[in-house]
Amino acid sequence: MDYLPIFVNIKQQHCLIVGGGAVAARKADLFIQAGAIVTVIAPKLKTEMKHHLANGKIVWQMGVFSAEILANLTPPKYVISATDEQSVNQAVYQYCQQKNIPVNVADQTQYCDFILPAIVDRNPMTIAISTGGRSPVLARLMKARLETMIPSGFSKLADLVGRYRQKVKNSISSLDGRKAFWENLLDGSFIDKAVHGKFNEAEQILEYKIQQVVENGQVEPSGEVYLIGAGPGDPDLMTFKALRLLQQADVILYDRLVPIEIVDMARREAERIYVGKKEKYHALEQEDIGQLMVDLAKQGKRVARLKGGDPYIFGRGAEEAEFLVKNNISYQVVPGITAAAGCSMYAGFPLTHRDFSQSVALVAGHQQAGAKAIDYARLANSGDTMVFYMGIKNSPKIQQGLLEQGMNPDTPVAIIENGTTLNQKETICTLENMVETIKETKIKPPALIIVGEVIKVRDRLRPTN
Ligand SMILES: C[S@@+](CC[C@H](N)C(=O)[O-])C[C@H]1O[C@@H](n2cnc3c(N)ncnc32)[C@H](O)[C@@H]1O
Repeated sequence: MDYLPIFVNIKQQHCLIVGGGAVAARKADLFIQAGAIVTVIAPKLKTEMKHHLANGKIVWQMGVFSAEILANLTPPKYVISATDEQSVNQAVYQYCQQKNIPVNVADQTQYCDFILPAIVDRNPMTIAISTGGRSPVLARLMKARLETMIPSGFSKLADLVGRYRQKVKNSISSLDGRKAFWENLLDGSFIDKAVHGKFNEAEQILEYKIQQVVENGQVEPSGEVYLIGAGPGDPDLMTFKALRLLQQADVILYDRLVPIEIVDMARREAERIYVGKKEKYHALEQEDIGQLMVDLAKQGKRVARLKGGDPYIFGRGAEEAEFLVKNNISYQVVPGITAAAGCSMYAGFPLTHRDFSQSVALVAGHQQAGAKAIDYARLANSGDTMVFYMGIKNSPKIQQGLLEQGMNPDTPVAIIENGTTLNQKETICTLENMVETIKETKIKPPALIIVGEVIKVRDRLRPTN
């Protein structure tokens, strides 16, 4: 390890920044946030530092760094030198060495007693990232990744946990017992309630678990199910929440349309179970999937149920949620980008546009037994952009239904196969020649049939050169 990471309390401590430019201002900002009394020595201040001055966050000693200026100041605890003048930086460094004051010369690790890490700030939780001064850009990239993975509500979570620390100590006497208690709690639904500001619910969970330990001597395992919308195919279309919950899960149940790249975003040690359904081949029947989720959750496992697109759009997500409710299993649902939104966008046109269509209909093109028949009369006269999911096999009926209800045979149709993936294929035709086109171009599921004048916008959105 090149540097020992320590967190120093500098509240009300005098710290000195030499330099009035943007870099100096950024460093000053960190000291200000940590509660230091910041003095800046510089002949002039640039915009960012002027901003600190105007807000009363710094004291400005106008002039060039010198022993005389320093003589009038309270000796600083820490010094930063961030000027363009190498001679000034050298002088600051030498002065600090003589006086035994830790110093950091910006961008010159050889003149640094300490370095300032990139920070993910979820106060009171702070994550510091350092590359030992080798690559601040790499540290910032890592910071950006962590920022996306750790919800901003984590600060509130840390506060809540802090408030209960003593109560848990009073209720659980052994250190190991307390450790097990917190590990169990901070792995489950409590976290999600707290980071999303549902403090009452989070506190109820906490109180309940404390009571469980007091009464039974241990916390009962409480698994959970996450019904996660994985989006239409491109792994980049997963939401942050989807990724976070996926990475918390112990078991992953995944559907046929979920790409393996997304399944592989789970923890390496997480168990993976394929539960996909194809028309004539079901790895597991729907009831068995529900029962499997219940059984796993009852064993205390966190189960990620990955579904293509959005779980509640033709995804049977609501049926699964209902089954979980009946079996008293706690669950969360994460919305996903549905195929209609992803495929149309990746094929280069919107679903609504002021000039063409003000509404969209998402239609199940493959009618399940007992489901309501498609109301072609309503659709044909609605002005909706129509998106038929699971409609390839049924395309002759869709075509016939719409034409019989008087739709213009020249209405544009886009058929998008494997949308948003590297294998996306989009075919544009008209309602009149749709079935023929599907046959000729050998389109296979998963594919969407989109019908509507709005497809014409595609030409306007293509670069002209
Ligand atoms: C059972 S539905 C699930 C829909 C999913 N829940 C959603 O919100 O996108 C499956 C159908 O969605 C459509 N679909 C899903 N992903 C697709 C993709 N990447 N490209 C084209 N169509 C897709 C196809 O019509 C497929 O037959």
